[in-house]
Amino acid sequence: MSKNTLTITDNRTGQTYEVPIECGTIRTMDLRQIKVSNDDFGLLGYDPGYLNTASCKSMVTFIDGEKGILRYRGYPIEQLAEKSSFLETAYLLIKGELPDRERLEAWRYNIQMHTMVHANLTKFMDGFRYDGHPMGILVGTVGALSTFYPGAKNIFDLESRKLQVRRLIGKMPTLAAMSFRHSMGFPYVLPDNDLSYAGNFLSMMFKMTELKYSPDPILEKALDVLFILHADHEQNCSTSAVRSVGSSRVDPYSALAAGCAALYGPLHGGANEAVIRMLERIGSLDKVPEFIKSVKAGEGRLMGFGHRVYKNYDPRAKIIKKIAFEVFEVTGRNTLLDIALELERIALEDEYFIDRKLYPNVDFYSGLIYQAMGFPLDMFPVLFAIGRTPGWLAQWTEHMNDDEQKIARPRQMYLGEDKRDYVPIENRPKISQLVENKIGMCRL
Ligand code: CMC
Repeated sequence: MSKNTLTITDNRTGQTYEVPIECGTIRTMDLRQIKVSNDDFGLLGYDPGYLNTASCKSMVTFIDGEKGILRYRGYPIEQLAEKSSFLETAYLLIKGELPDRERLEAWRYNIQMHTMVHANLTKFMDGFRYDGHPMGILVGTVGALSTFYPGAKNIFDLESRKLQVRRLIGKMPTLAAMSFRHSMGFPYVLPDNDLSYAGNFLSMMFKMTELKYSPDPILEKALDVLFILHADHEQNCSTSAVRSVGSSRVDPYSALAAGCAALYGPLHGGANEAVIRMLERIGSLDKVPEFIKSVKAGEGRLMGFGHRVYKNYDPRAKIIKKIAFEVFEVTGRNTLLDIALELERIALEDEYFIDRKLYPNVDFYSGLIYQAMGFPLDMFPVLFAIGRTPGWLAQWTEHMNDDEQKIARPRQMYLGEDKRDYVPIENRPKISQLVENKIGMCRL
């Protein structure tokens, strides 16, 4: 009869162990009992980059990378992108259910009540160099919010938690737009709560001398959908950073600043910028075959293609491709689009990409849309951060409510020196080439 357990035989000792399997997972703590002697620490799992280790149980987002499925709280991303709004999706992610009309209105109101930032934060923002990267500014200012709201450290007080969640979703677009205007030397624009979440963000970004900014409804909708598509993606690098830093029970502003910092990296939030730079480098349609050849020769990657989890078309990329055409109807066609389409056409027919299951990911077309809408390249990860904020908060809340969680503290395989005694500097030999090489290997 089949049993939900795993039997392990330790060939060092001949001993057999039986460990439970829950949802296709074993607990690595169950390996600790596997020892060669009483003073042995016990077996550890080794998994750099967490390729095969679940760090939590979650009810927020489901991904099936082989089938190209993404669902928030059970709802397919395609349906949310078509029928929901970003604020409604944020409610869904954080509370677990779609709101009724009354609750959605209250949620919208509560978020809008927090779109303004303290006047001192403006001064703080002014302290950054004029050419500071907006994402660096965002990391700093989100972290600084913890000093404005010291009550946020009461992370087990439900009312305080609710307040910080609303503040973070409300203020993120304001901080994002301020970071852009600071780098441009433009005066900051106050939030306009008559506008939608995305519309207000566009106003804070692009309003100049007009009394009231009226966003183009197609661009406003496109941005709202892009925020929905970025709202969560289970245990990605920045979300894991939020959970890990949050596990020390620090306030959520500090935890989300860590998420922003993780998103700043080119392997995470910076790939859509890399796509634009790649398309610009290719320059024209006739250069596409040559570029594909160079990628296949290992001379670089086709940016915006491939994914650690999706081994099929990223479902977000399909939706984004459709939005791109709608946006270009308003902004005019981004000249890089034709190069992107040709790259995609060739790659999807090419054995190299087919064999490796490399398909367009979320970043392949999103940068083209952002660029056409007038966002500079270094704002791309900042836009990602606005969208990802409710996801980070939903995952942070889940982590805080999970009794099984403890402070994140991985183990290591120690491969360094065994015990050695300190040698006073006058007794140390001159550093030999061998030691020099070893010091160099530390690559500080
Ligand atoms: N272009 C060409 N070859 C590729 C690419 C690519 N974009 N991606 C993977 N490969 C090849 C890779 O060279 C390797 O080939 P081989 O087996 O011959 O050595 C094989 O495919 C497997 O690659 P891998 O690096 O082991 O795959 P990974 O799961 O570690 O990497 C990835 C995933 C997203 C980092 C990678 O596909 C990549 O660098 N893509 C381009 C960057 C990009 O678009 N990043 C955005 C990811 S989506 C945003 C998000 O969700 O955060």
